[in-house]
Amino acid sequence: MRTDTAAAIHLEDYQPAPYHIDTVDLDIHLAPTATQVKATLAIRRRDGVAPGTPLWLNGDETAFTGLAVNGQGLEESAYTANERELVIHTPPAEPFTLEVRTWVNPEANTQLSGLYRSSGNYCTQCEAEGFRRITYFLDRPDVLSVYTTRIEGPKADTQVLLGNGNPVESGDIPGTDRHYAIWHDPHPKPSYLFAMVAGNLAHVSDSFVTSSGRKVDLKIYVEPGKEDRCDWAMDSLKRSMKWDEDVFGCEYDLDVFNIVAVSDFNMGAMENKGLNIFNDKYVLADPETATDQDYANIEAVIAHEYFHNWTGNRITCRDWFQLCLKEGLTVFRDQEFSSDMRSRAVKRISDVRLLRSHQFPEDAGPLAHPVRPRQYTEINNFYTATVYEKGAEVVRMLKTLLGDDGFRKGMDLYFQRHDGDATTIEAFLACFSEATSTDLGQFARWYEQAGTPLVTVKSQFDATAQELTLDITQSIAPLPGQATSQPAVIPIRFGLIGQDGADVTASRITGAEVRGDVLLLTKASQKVTFHGLEHRPVLSLLRGFSAPVRLEAHQNLADLTFLARHDSDPFNRWQAVQTLATQELIRLTHEAHKKGSLEVDDRLVEIFGTILSDQGLDPAFKALALDLPGEADIAREIGKNVDPDAIHAARMAFRSAIGAAHLAAFHALLADAPQEGTFSPDAASAGKRALAAQALGYFADAGTPAAPDKVWHAFQQANNMTDRIGALTLLVHRNLPRAEQALADFRSRHSDNSLAMDKWFTVQATTPAKDGLERVKALTAHPLFDMTNPNRMRSLIQAFATGNHVQFARKDGEGFAFIADCVMTLDPRNPQVAARLLTCFRSWRSLEGERSKHAEKALLRISAMEKLSRDCRDIVDRCLQ
Ligand code: PHE
Ligand code: ZN
Repeated sequence: MRTDTAAAIHLEDYQPAPYHIDTVDLDIHLAPTATQVKATLAIRRRDGVAPGTPLWLNGDETAFTGLAVNGQGLEESAYTANERELVIHTPPAEPFTLEVRTWVNPEANTQLSGLYRSSGNYCTQCEAEGFRRITYFLDRPDVLSVYTTRIEGPKADTQVLLGNGNPVESGDIPGTDRHYAIWHDPHPKPSYLFAMVAGNLAHVSDSFVTSSGRKVDLKIYVEPGKEDRCDWAMDSLKRSMKWDEDVFGCEYDLDVFNIVAVSDFNMGAMENKGLNIFNDKYVLADPETATDQDYANIEAVIAHEYFHNWTGNRITCRDWFQLCLKEGLTVFRDQEFSSDMRSRAVKRISDVRLLRSHQFPEDAGPLAHPVRPRQYTEINNFYTATVYEKGAEVVRMLKTLLGDDGFRKGMDLYFQRHDGDATTIEAFLACFSEATSTDLGQFARWYEQAGTPLVTVKSQFDATAQELTLDITQSIAPLPGQATSQPAVIPIRFGLIGQDGADVTASRITGAEVRGDVLLLTKASQKVTFHGLEHRPVLSLLRGFSAPVRLEAHQNLADLTFLARHDSDPFNRWQAVQTLATQELIRLTHEAHKKGSLEVDDRLVEIFGTILSDQGLDPAFKALALDLPGEADIAREIGKNVDPDAIHAARMAFRSAIGAAHLAAFHALLADAPQEGTFSPDAASAGKRALAAQALGYFADAGTPAAPDKVWHAFQQANNMTDRIGALTLLVHRNLPRAEQALADFRSRHSDNSLAMDKWFTVQATTPAKDGLERVKALTAHPLFDMTNPNRMRSLIQAFATGNHVQFARKDGEGFAFIADCVMTLDPRNPQVAARLLTCFRSWRSLEGERSKHAEKALLRISAMEKLSRDCRDIVDRCLQ
């Protein structure tokens, strides 16, 4: 394993590779501990490179067994071959073939990068730098080659043999118990998109006819017995293919599209050309074991990986600094797809909640980095919320700035101009700039600066002049490595609302450029005036969350209450409630911290009554509006000297007050919650279930004697996983009678389904009880717990670290110490997954004194570990810097 303290790699040092690799022919002979790989590479010197320039290929724990150049062996002095590299000191000046033989032990590959085994099947993961663990290569995204893959294995263990591209040939190997398959991918691609799979897998099939009339065979491969859980994934795939044609004009380009679900996977899923490999939690679903959130996630991830075929595969990244070129753009595309499939408002609110809970804290702490970083030491640590989610927000702003048509023109030009390229953010932006004649120079700062801009607004109404004036500032707080920042272009979608609740328009707006209902902020501070307003309107700013900023608009209770009732923009209606609730939660937290009174302001409790009784609201929206900001959200808003116990107490007090005040309404909601006979995962049904779950939660928190029975019955009667896990969570987290019985019931019902059992672990990992940590520790000895399976590890350990603030950040430091131990146990086996777990420390400096001291101690202990991986070294160093 890699333990070297690697030097940082810098964007400004980019150089194209000195050699092209035009074709790659792989011959892979599978065996559990000794797979043989022969790679035949057609290599050509790049124009302008001096003849004889050494050919340097990457390796990583790669086992060299031999080579030939143009069919001839080389003197040992003519090359260097070790675990990390293969160098041909003086390659031929003319195009040549290099044949390299290596040896792989898939069984021993616990990092799940390169070729490994999952449940007895062979699979690969090559992004970002896994291909070099299979064979030596110019393992970088700007080296594009046409791949032909021959896979050979024993018929008994590898009935299915899959590769990238189209199937070409297959057959038995006479006189043996082995067979082979040959796959050819005509589209040049970087090595990180290579994949192969082999094993005894079952599949479901379907097909899709593309807009130009080509029939594509679609298959989803799973472990035998799981075929009946693929319907939703297949349906999502077909809808994705159609949507990408309709909305972006992107048509699929191979004869087959294969998806394989595996149960050991470091990430969510991978967009390998024509052969997507998925973490099975983003494929498998049935009503008995999947929640509505699972269904939504599957739909989104299937779409995301499929959409990569154009944004990522046909057009890829020049280097890993450009990761957001494919990821931010593809997240934006999958968000738009989900919005079109479901409720756009609900999707937007959910996405913003995710951005604020994951990306904002990252962007405010030691792990902050620009959407396009300028340096890294371990690229696997840059698959972050900033690259993905903030990256998507930046693309969304581009659309807001340029309008629907301008955005589409830019995308069309991008596809047309860069198809087949490995390119950059500059090239991407140039397409939009040229297609719409817009200068995007200042806009590009969104890719270059870390940190969430803070936008402050102070407004003043002058009745005589009939003017509303806004004093607006934007700034980014100093960050490690970024002491100062430059103003960005911030699109603020806005509305002015009259007393009757209808939007009013100003006769003229001065002080900022305005495009339609979007105000463009471009300066550190500016004064914007709305003219011709008879009465003071209520301001609705940042509608639809038109920019990834923190907004401090200094609006009073009356205005925010008004917005919560009347804003025509559903996002801002939701936001107004959130803003009010957050202010109250911060006040209550300070009270709780000084052991003061936790009396909740009646006016705020009443706002929730208004939402509850509003017949016009969609249930899914209502459910979101009723949900108070999470503990991490409150912590982030407080920002320093955070006391998680006080936050928890404040939030529970608020919930009890809402529950008690509106008991009858919640009761009524529960009474007419639909008891549908057949389950449907559609958005409308999911919305009803989400609202019923909120009602049940508030009913429980109101503390009436009837509550425990009600929750228990909800658990028993549940005919789908959403309802069942909702009730189970309440039983366990509120420590209600029969919680243990419910856990035992759940376990016996689902013990053979690992995705359902992951939920069982998570419910217990996130319980805020005083002995929550002890419970988690005990569960690590449970027969079903397995530290080596990433999903299971995350369901218990990472769920605890990220979803149980009171116990993780315990005053006695035991929570931090436990997670540090887990990181150190995991690191030698799977450094990528260990490093991701370690990021849960990123906000440690914002905790109150005692707690942050304990966190630092835990970090220092990790830092002192011998042979710490490069992955964890990078995170721990940045956390401590
Ligand atoms: N490229 C994958 C995705 O977004 C994520 C991934 C990265 C998977 C690295 C595996 C390894 O869609
Ligand atoms: Zn992606």
